Amino acid sequence: MSNFINIFEMSPRDGLQNEKNFISTEDKIKFINKLSSCGFKKIETSSFVSPKWVPQLSDALKVFRGINRAEEIKYTALTPNEKGFDNALEAKVDEVAIFTAASETFNKKNTNCDINTSLNRFKPIIQKAKINKVPVRGYISCISHCPYENYVDPKKVGEIANKLIKMGCYEVSLGDTTGKGSSEQTSKVIAECLQFLTPDKLAGHFHDTFQNALNNVKISLEYGIKTFDSSVGGLGGCPYSPGAKGNVSTEKVNDLLLSMGYETNLNITKIKECNKIALNLKEHGSYE
Ligand code: HMG
Ligand code: MG
Repeated sequence: MSNFINIFEMSPRDGLQNEKNFISTEDKIKFINKLSSCGFKKIETSSFVSPKWVPQLSDALKVFRGINRAEEIKYTALTPNEKGFDNALEAKVDEVAIFTAASETFNKKNTNCDINTSLNRFKPIIQKAKINKVPVRGYISCISHCPYENYVDPKKVGEIANKLIKMGCYEVSLGDTTGKGSSEQTSKVIAECLQFLTPDKLAGHFHDTFQNALNNVKISLEYGIKTFDSSVGGLGGCPYSPGAKGNVSTEKVNDLLLSMGYETNLNITKIKECNKIALNLKEHGSYE
Protein backbone atom coordinates (compact mmCIF):
# COMPACT_ATOMS: atom_id res chain seq x y z
CA MET A 1 0.00 0.00 0.00
CA SER A 2 2.01 2.98 -1.22
CA ASN A 3 -0.22 5.48 0.58
CA PHE A 4 0.26 3.80 3.93
CA ILE A 5 2.18 5.59 6.68
CA ASN A 6 3.39 3.69 9.68
CA ILE A 7 2.83 5.38 13.04
CA PHE A 8 5.14 3.88 15.66
CA GLU A 9 3.65 4.40 19.14
CA MET A 10 6.21 5.61 21.68
CA SER A 11 4.21 6.55 24.77
CA PRO A 12 5.01 3.65 27.15
CA ARG A 13 8.76 4.25 26.61
CA ASP A 14 9.50 7.83 25.49
CA GLY A 15 6.27 9.01 27.09
CA LEU A 16 6.72 7.53 30.52
CA GLN A 17 10.52 7.52 30.96
CA ASN A 18 10.52 11.12 32.14
CA GLU A 19 7.68 10.89 34.68
CA LYS A 20 9.03 11.62 38.13
CA ASN A 21 6.54 9.58 40.15
CA PHE A 22 6.78 5.84 39.62
CA ILE A 23 3.79 4.55 37.68
CA SER A 24 2.84 1.11 38.89
CA THR A 25 3.69 -1.87 36.71
CA GLU A 26 0.02 -2.83 36.72
CA ASP A 27 -1.02 0.57 35.31
CA LYS A 28 1.69 0.42 32.65
CA ILE A 29 0.42 -3.01 31.61
CA LYS A 30 -3.20 -1.81 31.43
CA PHE A 31 -2.11 1.20 29.37
CA ILE A 32 -0.13 -0.93 26.89
CA ASN A 33 -3.02 -3.40 26.59
CA LYS A 34 -5.30 -0.49 25.73
CA LEU A 35 -2.79 0.82 23.18
CA SER A 36 -2.86 -2.63 21.58
CA SER A 37 -6.46 -1.98 20.48
CA CYS A 38 -5.60 1.17 18.46
CA GLY A 39 -4.25 -0.48 15.31
CA PHE A 40 -0.52 0.23 15.81
CA LYS A 41 1.89 -2.26 14.25
CA LYS A 42 4.59 -1.38 16.77
CA ILE A 43 4.56 -0.16 20.35
CA GLU A 44 7.78 0.87 22.07
CA THR A 45 6.98 -0.80 25.35
CA SER A 46 9.92 -0.09 27.67
CA SER A 47 13.72 0.17 27.97
CA PHE A 48 16.34 -2.25 29.25
CA VAL A 49 18.57 0.51 30.57
CA SER A 50 20.20 1.09 33.93
CA PRO A 51 17.54 1.34 36.67
CA LYS A 52 19.73 4.00 38.28
CA TRP A 53 19.56 6.15 35.16
CA VAL A 54 15.87 5.66 34.34
CA PRO A 55 14.09 4.30 37.45
CA GLN A 56 10.65 4.68 35.85
CA LEU A 57 11.35 1.84 33.42
CA SER A 58 13.13 -0.46 35.87
CA ASP A 59 10.15 -2.85 35.64
CA ALA A 60 10.65 -3.56 31.91
CA LEU A 61 10.83 -7.34 32.33
CA LYS A 62 7.66 -7.43 34.46
CA VAL A 63 5.87 -5.22 31.94
CA PHE A 64 6.80 -7.47 29.02
CA ARG A 65 5.71 -10.53 30.97
CA GLY A 66 2.43 -8.92 32.05
CA ILE A 67 1.04 -7.51 28.81
CA ASN A 68 -1.33 -9.36 26.49
CA ARG A 69 0.68 -9.53 23.31
CA ALA A 70 -1.37 -9.18 20.14
CA GLU A 71 0.11 -11.34 17.37
CA GLU A 72 0.08 -8.57 14.78
CA ILE A 73 1.92 -6.05 16.99
CA LYS A 74 5.64 -5.85 17.59
CA TYR A 75 6.46 -4.85 21.17
CA THR A 76 9.85 -3.13 21.14
CA ALA A 77 12.38 -1.84 23.67
CA LEU A 78 15.55 0.24 23.93
CA THR A 79 18.80 -1.58 24.61
CA PRO A 80 21.90 0.61 25.11
CA ASN A 81 24.39 -2.22 25.62
CA GLU A 82 24.84 -5.99 25.65
CA LYS A 83 23.44 -6.34 29.16
CA GLY A 84 20.28 -4.54 28.07
CA PHE A 85 20.00 -6.75 25.01
CA ASP A 86 20.38 -9.94 27.09
CA ASN A 87 17.61 -8.73 29.38
CA ALA A 88 15.44 -7.89 26.37
CA LEU A 89 15.94 -11.41 25.01
CA GLU A 90 14.84 -12.83 28.35
CA ALA A 91 11.68 -10.71 28.04
CA LYS A 92 11.11 -12.01 24.49
CA VAL A 93 11.08 -8.52 23.01
CA ASP A 94 10.04 -8.52 19.31
CA GLU A 95 12.45 -5.80 18.25
CA VAL A 96 15.13 -3.70 19.94
CA ALA A 97 16.47 -0.20 19.37
CA ILE A 98 19.98 1.05 19.92
CA PHE A 99 20.49 4.77 20.46
CA THR A 100 23.23 7.30 20.00
CA ALA A 101 23.39 11.01 19.20
CA ALA A 102 24.87 13.50 16.78
CA SER A 103 26.16 15.52 19.74
CA GLU A 104 29.02 14.28 21.93
CA THR A 105 27.86 16.10 25.07
CA PHE A 106 24.30 14.80 24.83
CA ASN A 107 25.53 11.27 24.22
CA LYS A 108 27.77 11.47 27.28
CA LYS A 109 24.89 12.76 29.43
CA ASN A 110 22.49 10.15 28.05
CA THR A 111 24.66 7.03 27.93
CA ASN A 112 27.88 7.95 29.73
CA CYS A 113 30.13 7.55 26.71
CA ASP A 114 31.20 9.25 23.49
CA ILE A 115 29.54 8.52 20.16
CA ASN A 116 32.22 6.09 18.95
CA THR A 117 32.12 4.12 22.17
CA SER A 118 28.34 3.88 21.91
CA LEU A 119 28.67 2.50 18.36
CA ASN A 120 31.18 -0.08 19.63
CA ARG A 121 28.77 -1.10 22.38
CA PHE A 122 26.22 -1.88 19.67
CA LYS A 123 28.41 -4.46 17.90
CA PRO A 124 27.65 -7.39 20.25
CA ILE A 125 23.97 -6.40 20.24
CA ILE A 126 23.83 -6.59 16.45
CA GLN A 127 25.66 -9.93 16.45
CA LYS A 128 23.34 -11.48 19.02
CA ALA A 129 20.28 -9.93 17.38
CA LYS A 130 21.19 -11.56 14.07
CA ILE A 131 21.58 -14.96 15.73
CA ASN A 132 18.26 -14.57 17.52
CA LYS A 133 16.50 -12.99 14.52
CA VAL A 134 15.59 -9.82 16.42
CA PRO A 135 15.33 -6.71 14.19
CA VAL A 136 17.38 -3.73 15.37
CA ARG A 137 16.33 -0.13 14.91
CA GLY A 138 18.73 2.80 15.42
CA TYR A 139 18.05 6.22 16.89
CA ILE A 140 20.07 9.37 16.46
CA SER A 141 19.26 12.07 19.00
CA CYS A 142 19.90 15.79 18.54
CA ILE A 143 19.65 15.76 14.75
CA SER A 144 19.19 19.54 14.62
CA HIS A 145 20.03 20.94 17.99
CA CYS A 146 21.67 19.84 21.23
CA PRO A 147 20.60 21.12 24.67
CA TYR A 148 24.31 21.49 25.58
CA GLU A 149 26.12 22.23 22.28
CA ASN A 150 23.32 24.04 20.38
CA TYR A 151 23.98 23.74 16.61
CA VAL A 152 24.41 20.25 15.19
CA ASP A 153 25.97 19.73 11.77
CA PRO A 154 23.60 17.80 9.45
CA LYS A 155 26.67 16.06 7.95
CA LYS A 156 27.33 14.41 11.31
CA VAL A 157 23.79 12.97 11.30
CA GLY A 158 24.26 11.61 7.77
CA GLU A 159 27.54 9.93 8.73
CA ILE A 160 26.08 8.27 11.83
CA ALA A 161 22.92 7.17 10.01
CA ASN A 162 25.10 5.53 7.36
CA LYS A 163 27.17 3.77 10.06
CA LEU A 164 24.06 2.47 11.86
CA ILE A 165 22.59 1.00 8.67
CA LYS A 166 25.95 -0.51 7.70
CA MET A 167 26.16 -2.10 11.15
CA GLY A 168 22.83 -3.83 10.58
CA CYS A 169 20.00 -1.54 11.68
CA TYR A 170 16.98 -1.95 9.42
CA GLU A 171 15.99 1.71 9.90
CA VAL A 172 17.28 4.88 11.57
CA SER A 173 14.91 7.12 13.44
CA LEU A 174 15.93 10.79 13.32
CA GLY A 175 15.33 12.38 16.72
CA ASP A 176 14.65 16.07 17.09
CA THR A 177 15.18 15.74 20.82
CA THR A 178 14.77 19.39 21.81
CA GLY A 179 12.00 20.09 19.30
CA LYS A 180 13.92 23.14 18.06
CA GLY A 181 14.52 21.82 14.55
CA SER A 182 12.91 23.98 11.87
CA SER A 183 11.67 22.24 8.74
CA GLU A 184 14.59 23.90 6.84
CA GLN A 185 17.08 22.30 9.22
CA THR A 186 15.28 18.94 9.15
CA SER A 187 15.31 19.12 5.37
CA LYS A 188 19.11 19.56 5.39
CA VAL A 189 19.48 16.61 7.77
CA ILE A 190 17.36 14.31 5.62
CA ALA A 191 19.17 15.40 2.45
CA GLU A 192 22.50 14.47 4.12
CA CYS A 193 21.17 11.04 5.12
CA LEU A 194 19.86 10.45 1.61
CA GLN A 195 23.41 10.80 0.25
CA PHE A 196 23.93 7.33 1.72
CA LEU A 197 20.48 5.84 2.27
CA THR A 198 17.08 5.45 0.67
CA PRO A 199 14.05 7.05 2.43
CA ASP A 200 12.64 3.66 3.47
CA LYS A 201 15.62 3.40 5.85
CA LEU A 202 14.60 6.56 7.72
CA ALA A 203 11.92 7.46 10.24
CA GLY A 204 11.02 10.77 11.88
CA HIS A 205 11.02 11.15 15.67
CA PHE A 206 9.98 14.70 16.42
CA HIS A 207 9.43 16.13 19.88
CA ASP A 208 6.85 18.88 19.81
CA THR A 209 8.24 21.33 22.37
CA PHE A 210 8.04 24.30 19.97
CA GLN A 211 5.23 23.04 17.71
CA ASN A 212 7.66 22.29 14.87
CA ALA A 213 6.85 18.60 14.73
CA LEU A 214 4.01 18.58 12.21
CA ASN A 215 6.01 20.73 9.79
CA ASN A 216 8.87 18.29 10.21
CA VAL A 217 6.53 15.40 9.41
CA LYS A 218 5.38 17.25 6.28
CA ILE A 219 8.91 17.92 5.04
CA SER A 220 9.87 14.30 5.75
CA LEU A 221 6.93 13.11 3.64
CA GLU A 222 8.25 15.19 0.75
CA TYR A 223 11.46 13.17 0.89
CA GLY A 224 9.51 9.89 0.91
CA ILE A 225 9.83 9.01 4.61
CA LYS A 226 6.92 6.79 5.63
CA THR A 227 7.43 6.03 9.32
CA PHE A 228 6.82 8.48 12.17
CA ASP A 229 7.19 8.04 15.92
CA SER A 230 4.54 9.62 18.12
CA SER A 231 2.97 9.35 21.57
CA VAL A 232 -0.70 9.37 22.53
CA GLY A 233 -1.49 12.62 24.31
CA GLY A 234 1.94 13.95 23.28
CA LEU A 235 3.24 12.21 26.39
CA GLY A 236 6.88 12.43 27.32
CA GLY A 237 10.27 14.08 27.19
CA CYS A 238 13.87 12.98 27.55
CA PRO A 239 15.48 12.93 31.01
CA TYR A 240 18.72 14.28 29.49
CA SER A 241 17.12 17.06 27.46
CA PRO A 242 15.96 19.58 30.09
CA GLY A 243 12.59 21.15 29.30
CA ALA A 244 11.95 19.02 26.22
CA LYS A 245 8.35 17.99 25.89
CA GLY A 246 6.84 14.84 24.48
CA ASN A 247 6.82 13.29 21.07
CA VAL A 248 4.36 14.80 18.68
CA SER A 249 0.88 13.55 19.58
CA THR A 250 -0.33 10.46 17.74
CA GLU A 251 -3.73 12.02 17.16
CA LYS A 252 -2.22 15.16 15.56
CA VAL A 253 0.01 13.14 13.23
CA ASN A 254 -2.87 10.85 12.33
CA ASP A 255 -5.18 13.82 11.58
CA LEU A 256 -2.51 15.47 9.45
CA LEU A 257 -1.83 12.31 7.46
CA LEU A 258 -5.50 11.58 6.86
CA SER A 259 -6.09 15.18 5.73
CA MET A 260 -3.27 14.72 3.21
CA GLY A 261 -4.86 11.55 1.81
CA TYR A 262 -2.58 9.00 3.53
CA GLU A 263 -3.76 5.86 5.28
CA THR A 264 -2.74 4.84 8.78
CA ASN A 265 -5.33 2.20 9.77
CA LEU A 266 -5.62 3.58 13.30
CA ASN A 267 -8.81 3.56 15.36
CA ILE A 268 -9.31 7.18 16.41
CA THR A 269 -11.93 6.35 19.07
CA LYS A 270 -9.48 4.04 20.82
CA ILE A 271 -6.70 6.62 20.50
CA LYS A 272 -8.91 9.22 22.19
CA GLU A 273 -9.48 6.75 25.05
CA CYS A 274 -5.71 6.32 25.32
CA ASN A 275 -5.23 10.11 25.33
CA LYS A 276 -7.34 10.28 28.50
CA ILE A 277 -5.31 7.53 30.15
CA ALA A 278 -2.07 9.27 29.14
CA LEU A 279 -3.34 12.45 30.77
CA ASN A 280 -4.23 10.56 33.95
CA LEU A 281 -0.81 8.93 34.06
CA LYS A 282 0.82 12.32 33.66
CA GLU A 283 -1.36 14.29 36.07
CA HIS A 284 -2.25 11.72 38.72
CA GLY A 285 0.41 9.05 38.16
CA SER A 286 -2.29 6.44 37.69
CA TYR A 287 -4.44 4.83 35.00
CA GLU A 288 -7.80 6.01 36.32
P1 HMG B 1 27.04 3.20 32.98
O1 HMG B 1 26.80 3.58 34.41
O2 HMG B 1 28.16 3.86 32.26
O3 HMG B 1 27.16 1.61 32.82
O4 HMG B 1 25.69 3.45 32.20
P2 HMG B 1 28.22 0.57 33.32
O5 HMG B 1 28.40 -0.40 32.22
O6 HMG B 1 29.44 1.27 33.87
O7 HMG B 1 27.47 -0.17 34.53
C1 HMG B 1 27.17 0.50 35.74
C2 HMG B 1 26.04 -0.25 36.45
O8 HMG B 1 24.85 -0.23 35.64
C3 HMG B 1 26.36 -1.72 36.70
O9 HMG B 1 25.65 -2.09 37.88
C4 HMG B 1 25.70 -2.42 35.53
O10 HMG B 1 25.37 -3.75 35.79
C5 HMG B 1 24.44 -1.58 35.36
P3 HMG B 1 26.37 -2.10 39.32
O11 HMG B 1 27.53 -3.04 39.16
O12 HMG B 1 26.78 -0.67 39.61
O13 HMG B 1 25.28 -2.56 40.23
N1 HMG B 1 23.95 -1.63 33.97
C6 HMG B 1 22.70 -2.00 33.63
N2 HMG B 1 21.64 -2.39 34.35
C7 HMG B 1 20.51 -2.72 33.67
N3 HMG B 1 20.41 -2.64 32.33
C8 HMG B 1 21.45 -2.25 31.58
C9 HMG B 1 22.66 -1.92 32.23
N4 HMG B 1 23.86 -1.49 31.78
C10 HMG B 1 24.63 -1.33 32.85
N5 HMG B 1 21.32 -2.19 30.25
C11 HMG B 1 24.13 3.06 30.43
C12 HMG B 1 25.59 3.23 30.81
C13 HMG B 1 24.03 3.16 28.92
C14 HMG B 1 23.65 1.72 30.92
C15 HMG B 1 23.31 4.19 31.14
O14 HMG B 1 23.87 5.40 30.78
C16 HMG B 1 21.87 4.17 30.75
O15 HMG B 1 21.13 3.28 31.13
N6 HMG B 1 21.42 5.16 29.99
C17 HMG B 1 20.05 5.16 29.48
C18 HMG B 1 19.57 6.53 29.29
C19 HMG B 1 18.19 6.53 28.69
O16 HMG B 1 17.46 5.56 28.73
N7 HMG B 1 17.83 7.69 28.12
C20 HMG B 1 16.56 7.89 27.53
C21 HMG B 1 16.34 7.11 26.28
S1 HMG B 1 17.06 7.83 24.84
C22 HMG B 1 15.90 8.99 24.32
O17 HMG B 1 14.94 9.26 25.00
C23 HMG B 1 16.09 9.62 22.97
C24 HMG B 1 15.17 9.04 21.89
O18 HMG B 1 13.81 9.11 22.31
C25 HMG B 1 15.35 9.81 20.58
C26 HMG B 1 15.21 11.33 20.79
O19 HMG B 1 14.12 11.79 21.18
O20 HMG B 1 16.21 12.03 20.60
C27 HMG B 1 15.49 7.57 21.62
MG1 MG C 1 12.50 10.81 22.05
